Amino acid sequence: MSAPSGAKLRHQSAPSAHPLELGVIVPTFKEAPNVRPLLEKLEAALQGVVWQVIFVDDDSPDGTAATVKEIAAIDPRVICLHRIGRRGLAGAVIEGAMASAAPFVAVIDGDLQHDETLLPQMLKALQDDRADLVVGSRYIAGQGPVGGFDKRRAHGSLFATWLGRKVLKLDLSDPMSGFFAIRRSLVERAAPKLSTDGFKLLFDLASVLDPPPRVVELPYVFRERHEGESKLDGRVVAHYLSLLASKLSRDVLSPRALLFGLVGLSGVLVNVAVVYALSDLRFLPAQAIGAVVAMTSNYLINNTVTYRDKRKRGLALLTGYLRFCLLCAIGLAANVAVASLAFQLVPHRWVGVVAGAAVGAAWNYITTSLAVW
Ligand code: GDD
Ligand code: MN
Repeated sequence: MSAPSGAKLRHQSAPSAHPLELGVIVPTFKEAPNVRPLLEKLEAALQGVVWQVIFVDDDSPDGTAATVKEIAAIDPRVICLHRIGRRGLAGAVIEGAMASAAPFVAVIDGDLQHDETLLPQMLKALQDDRADLVVGSRYIAGQGPVGGFDKRRAHGSLFATWLGRKVLKLDLSDPMSGFFAIRRSLVERAAPKLSTDGFKLLFDLASVLDPPPRVVELPYVFRERHEGESKLDGRVVAHYLSLLASKLSRDVLSPRALLFGLVGLSGVLVNVAVVYALSDLRFLPAQAIGAVVAMTSNYLINNTVTYRDKRKRGLALLTGYLRFCLLCAIGLAANVAVASLAFQLVPHRWVGVVAGAAVGAAWNYITTSLAVW
């Protein structure tokens, strides 16, 4: 009487004669006016392919998610993953890819800067098993970048690319590309090791996958943005550099720990600057003020850069600050204690300073990551 539930399911639903071939993942933040134009372009480019598109929106204030859902209500190929209380391009793309049941997924920006007419070629290379990863490259062999770059952006992008290639074992001409297609199972395999904030998902994927994926690169012209503005800013660059440094340390230091360390160093500079600016005061009060100012700037920078994805506002910003100060004060005590112990063991001043700073910094990083952010 009781058939296995799988068989039952097969009878009740009507499986498509044409299984899904491609999942297109579109991360969006404030792209409402670009949603319809992009869908029209996808529709035109993907004739003859069984595809779906998953928009992953981080609750954009301009109602991007609502725009997508309006269309999704009448077109089952369109899906909206609406994330609340989270930000981050890489994490959005990973979640979108994990939500798809298609054997291959392609990532494309929501602002029409990427050339969607490349998608069928990308899919073909994957289906023919010529590649595990197909990358849309903005750099044609031997030439500079092409398309919607201003001069500063072009130089910065070339530099970032050069750095990325130094660190990566894989030879990608555009490891910063946000436009690529990949076998979904590879994303699933890599997912636990990927960092979810920042813009550099492809770079991260390429460095995490072992054995390295077989790559095909297809050149395209990076278009001007259709509507809205770019979210790539100084913080994104800081995250990228810390990801590179983390790879150089063979993942011993996390990108976040490195950023936290850099912010700590900036705090030392702030402290010195304040002490010199207050040279009319006696040293001790000047130093006390300097330390408080440095601690405050450290907290605020960490909150906006290091922990931008968990950023505190309003009352939480204040209570977080108090906790941060308390933990750093304990860290300072640990610093002094360890420094004096180390100095007793090895009577060189620098040994004491380094040992104290290392322990103090580690304490601050670990405890604030647990109790503040
Ligand atoms: N869900 C989500 N969450 N989407 C985001 C977020 C976020 O926090 N930040 C940006 N996006 C979306 C944007 O809405 C857009 O669709 C896409 O990600 C790319 O963001 P842009 O702000 O347009 O980036 P860009 O054009 O400056 O950067 C391009 O070049 C970079 C390399 O220089 C993109 O192709 C990047 O992927 C690429 O790394
Ligand atoms: Mn863009």
